[in-house]
Amino acid sequence: MRIFSALSSLLLAGAAVAQSSDCAPKSSDVQTLQFAWALQHLSERFWSSQSLNQTFLSNATNATTANYPPNFQGITRENRLGVRAVQQIGNSISNFTTPRCNITIPQSANADSFLKNALQVEQTVAGGLIGLAAFTQSPEVSFLLARLAAQHSAQAAYLGTEQNATFFPANSTSLIPAYTPDQLIKATNQTGQLGTLLKGCVTPPAGPCGQQVNIGPLVATLNSTRTGGGTSSSASASASTTGATSLASPTTTATATSAARNRRFF
Ligand SMILES: *[C@@H]1O[C@H](CO)[C@@H](O)[C@H](O)[C@H]1NC(C)=O
Ligand SMILES: *[C@@H]1O[C@H](CO)[C@@H](O)[C@H](O)[C@H]1NC(C)=O
Ligand SMILES: *[C@@H]1O[C@H](CO)[C@@H](O)[C@H](O)[C@H]1NC(C)=O
Ligand SMILES: *[C@@H]1O[C@H](CO)[C@@H](O)[C@H](O)[C@H]1NC(C)=O
Ligand SMILES: *[C@@H]1O[C@H](CO)[C@@H](O)[C@H](O)[C@H]1NC(C)=O
Ligand SMILES: *[C@@H]1O[C@H](CO)[C@@H](O)[C@H](O)[C@H]1NC(C)=O
Ligand SMILES: *[C@@H]1O[C@H](CO)[C@@H](O)[C@H](O)[C@H]1NC(C)=O
Ligand SMILES: *[C@@H]1O[C@H](CO)[C@@H](O)[C@H](O)[C@H]1NC(C)=O
Ligand SMILES: *[C@@H]1O[C@H](CO)[C@@H](O)[C@H](O)[C@H]1NC(C)=O
Repeated sequence: MRIFSALSSLLLAGAAVAQSSDCAPKSSDVQTLQFAWALQHLSERFWSSQSLNQTFLSNATNATTANYPPNFQGITRENRLGVRAVQQIGNSISNFTTPRCNITIPQSANADSFLKNALQVEQTVAGGLIGLAAFTQSPEVSFLLARLAAQHSAQAAYLGTEQNATFFPANSTSLIPAYTPDQLIKATNQTGQLGTLLKGCVTPPAGPCGQQVNIGPLVATLNSTRTGGGTSSSASASASTTGATSLASPTTTATATSAARNRRFF
C-alpha cells in the first residue's frame, strides 16, 4: 500500500513536471492527435472486421510460405495497442476528445482481395502518420507518430513482399510515400485516400506555423498558404497525390519537388 501511494505520488509529481514543460503536448496538438486516432482506429477496425480464420487465409496465393494466421493476429493486436497509445497521449491534453468515427469496413470477397486491401490500408495509414508528423512541435506527439508510422510501414512491407516479388524497385526515385491530412480525407478509394471510410469524422489540423505542408519525394517543405488563412487542400493534395501512387511506381513523385524552398521542415 505504502509503496503504491509513494509510487503514485512520484508519478503524479512526474506528470506535473511534464505538464508544466514547454515541450508537453499542447492544445494545438488536439486536432493532430484526433486525426492520428482516426487513422489508427481505422487500421484497427480494418483488421478486426474480417474473420481471419485458417480456411479463409489458406486460399491466398502463397499462403503456405507466408504464415499469415499468427502474423495477422499480431498485426491486429499491435494496431489495437496503437489506438491505446494515441489515446494515452491524447488524454494528457485537457481538451482532447475521442473522435466519433463510425468506420464500416466492407468485407473482402476472398483472401487475395483482403490482402490487397490490407496492403493499401497499411501503406496509406503509414504515409498519413508520416504526414501528420509535420503538424506537431511536441516531442511526445512526434515520437508517437514516428513509432506508429514505422509499425504500419513494417506491416505494409510484410504484406507487400508476400504479394509482389519486387516491393522495393531498383529504380526508385522516392522515399516511402507520405500524405497530408487534406489529401487523406479525399473520398476516392485508392492508396493515399481514406475519405470513403472516415466520412468526415475528423478535420485536418491547421498547417504548422500557419503554413502549408508540401510533401516531395525526399523531404517536406512549408510555404505560405495559397489563399491566406486556412489550409489549401488542392495544392498540398496535388503535390502528394503524385507521390502517393505506391512504392511500385515512384517515378511520378519527381514533380512535387524543388519549388517552394522557403523553409525546410526538418
Ligand atoms: C483546444 O483548446 C485550444 C485552446 O485552448 C484551441 O486552440 C483548440 O482549438 C482546442 N481544440 C479542440 C479540438 O477543441
Ligand atoms: C472464416 O472467415 C470467412 C471470411 O472472413 C468467414 O466468411 C467465415 O464465416 C469464417 N469461418 C469461421 C468458421 O469463422
Ligand atoms: C454506422 O454506419 C453504418 C453503415 O454506414 C450504419 O448502418 C450505422 O447506422 C452507423 N451507426 C451509427 C451509430 O451512426
Ligand atoms: C478460394 O479461391 C477461389 C479462387 O481462387 C474461389 O473461387 C473460392 O471461392 C475461394 N474460397 C474461399 C473459401 O474463399
Ligand atoms: C476499392 O474499390 C474496389 C472496387 O470498386 C473494391 O474491390 C476494393 O475492395 C476497394 N478497396 C478498399 C480498400 O475499400
Ligand atoms: C508466390 O510463389 C510463387 C511460386 O513459389 C513465386 O514464383 C512467386 O514469386 C510468389 N509470389 C510472391 C509475391 O512472392
Ligand atoms: C507552395 O509549394 C507548393 C509545392 O512546391 C506549390 O505548388 C505552391 O504553389 C506553393 N505555394 C505558394 C503560395 O508559394
Ligand atoms: C508489384 O510490382 C510491380 C512492378 O514494380 C507493380 O507494377 C505492381 O503494382 C506491384 N504490385 C503490388 C501489389 O504492389
Ligand atoms: C522502373 O522499372 C520498372 C520495371 O521494373 C518500369 O516499369 C518503370 O517504368 C521504371 N521506372 C523508371 C523511372 O525507370
